[in-house]
Amino acid sequence: MTLILWTALGYLLGSIPFGVAITRVLGLGDLRQIGSGNIGATNVLRTGNKPAAFATLLLDSGKGAIAVLLARHFGGETAAMLAGGAAFLGHCFPVWLGFRGGKGVATFLGTLIALHWPLGLIACGVWLLSAVISRISSLSALLAAALSPVFAWAIGRADLVLVSLFMAVLIFARHRANIARLLDGSEPRIGRGKP
Ligand code: G3P
Repeated sequence: MTLILWTALGYLLGSIPFGVAITRVLGLGDLRQIGSGNIGATNVLRTGNKPAAFATLLLDSGKGAIAVLLARHFGGETAAMLAGGAAFLGHCFPVWLGFRGGKGVATFLGTLIALHWPLGLIACGVWLLSAVISRISSLSALLAAALSPVFAWAIGRADLVLVSLFMAVLIFARHRANIARLLDGSEPRIGRGKP
């Protein structure tokens, strides 16, 4: 019963669409009508407002981390994994936006950092390195997502392989349009306009 409660709480936390809320409060428009239409920090950056994009990145990753930390403190490790996975699902399919949400990258990173900080930092490092070299957010996200189950396996954590594989598969599914643009060379660089 408590595991169901932590999963539900994680989902509700993850469902909060910070990117949409921040851009609306700042009068930047409806994020879903801007750029790629995604509700994440990369798309907030396309409004030209860097602090808003940074705040979205922090809050979207923070909601995953907080779900994990709260659930772990009060419910233990299994509750933490369920709450983190559910927060990630909440971001991708938020109840507040009719289940049409984001691509989950920031929430994936925040969840992973809280579940196992060295693994989370490695995933962030992969994202950052790729972003510095390629200047493409989606490519960096796909690389970080694809490599995290491999790193989890390398440190001998089957439970983390499972959680990170689950999130990686969904991240790939949510990036279908980005993958098509990457393949035909039309994916925009970070901060650039509409894909
Ligand atoms: O984190 C989302 C990013 O990987 C892609 O965002 O807006 O370029 O589709 P976007």
